[in-house]
Amino acid sequence: MSAIEPFDVVDLIRTKRDGGALSSPEIRWMIDAYTRGVVADEQMSAMAMAILIRGMQRRETVDMTNAMVNSGERLDFSALSKPTTDKHSTGGVGDKITLPLAPLVASFGVAVPQLSGRGLGHTGGTLDKLESIPGWRAALSNDEMMAQLEAAGAVICAAGSGLAPADRKLYALRDATGTVEAIPLIASSIMSKKIAEGTASLVLDVKFGGGAFMREFDRAKELATTLVQIGLDAGVKTRAVLTNMNVPLGLAIGNANEVRESVEVLAGAGPADVVELTVVLAQHMLELAGITDVDVAENLRNGKAMDSWRQMISAQGGDPDAALPVPTETHTVFADRDGVLARQEALPFGIAAWRLGAGRARKEDPVIHAAGIDLLAKPGDVVRKGDPLFTLSANDSARFDRALDALDGAWEIADEAHNYGPLVAEVITG
Ligand code: URA
Repeated sequence: MSAIEPFDVVDLIRTKRDGGALSSPEIRWMIDAYTRGVVADEQMSAMAMAILIRGMQRRETVDMTNAMVNSGERLDFSALSKPTTDKHSTGGVGDKITLPLAPLVASFGVAVPQLSGRGLGHTGGTLDKLESIPGWRAALSNDEMMAQLEAAGAVICAAGSGLAPADRKLYALRDATGTVEAIPLIASSIMSKKIAEGTASLVLDVKFGGGAFMREFDRAKELATTLVQIGLDAGVKTRAVLTNMNVPLGLAIGNANEVRESVEVLAGAGPADVVELTVVLAQHMLELAGITDVDVAENLRNGKAMDSWRQMISAQGGDPDAALPVPTETHTVFADRDGVLARQEALPFGIAAWRLGAGRARKEDPVIHAAGIDLLAKPGDVVRKGDPLFTLSANDSARFDRALDALDGAWEIADEAHNYGPLVAEVITG
């Protein structure tokens, strides 16, 4: 005989549809019943749409997050000899910051348990990038993760299916029903995974602008504030940094080329914007972990962050000295006049890299690690007619036309540069 359920989901859908608030027991039950299959996909779709239109109070969003955390396992790093800290980015074009950031922070004696995902659409996934490194493996057991955190300090690995399974199910449903954009749903989705991951502190890189998930600054700020509030309520020291994603980050967009650029940063070089964001985020993470009065950038110059990177990659079977995949086909685009590279729009460059094979359209698709775009000029650079602007890479030249279609109008040479504003716009501390 099946158990008697304490609520009827149709009543809950009506409450939210009419602008009411759901109680804590109602939310706890709804998420649990959805995970068990008692609440059907079509009912949860209606609820997600009602939430998108009506919103949720802060207390409801916190309840939703906790219910999703409780749908699965929760990792516990309290036995480690070091403090833990992590970072989450809402995703952008050329956003490889996790790669230099995790070993940089680890080089100060802090543990960084970074459970990452794969890319979908125009924003790349950290695991896809690291899988360019021969031998590197994303799947680690909890025991392997603990041992690596103690020894190397940083782990970047795949989130196991046991973490927040309710989010996995709900996220797939939202994707299919036009309900991804609801701030309470985004916030509870992101934070349920991070809270279940067990980090003591968390820095959120919330992006705004053309290449970001949230285009408008005000919406990104609302999301950032909600994320910080949920984290603080859950006892996680949380901070959010609002960063500009109108222009691709760095010069590399893809997978293997983003690893190459990250290694340049770890060697004390690399593009200024990637270095700036890596250092800013590391500073916040270290502060939350109780480490102040350190020169963060110094560990990029003195080789300590590079040592942590090599240890982290080797511990997961990767060869940090191995050659990275190279493309079989390239196509370079040249400046058609003298002037200043005025615009370089993130979204079309992300879409073009995806069309070259660097990203995937469906979860099951493979990525081509050597595919992507290398920018040879950044906005503000003076260029002369005939100078190379960017190079497309693929393993099949038939991909170039569609990538170039995406880039139509995506860049411009003019007499003066467009002002995209600062990279780091605001910090939200709760
Ligand atoms: N990333 C997530 O993990 N969840 C969302 O809902 C959106 C972005």
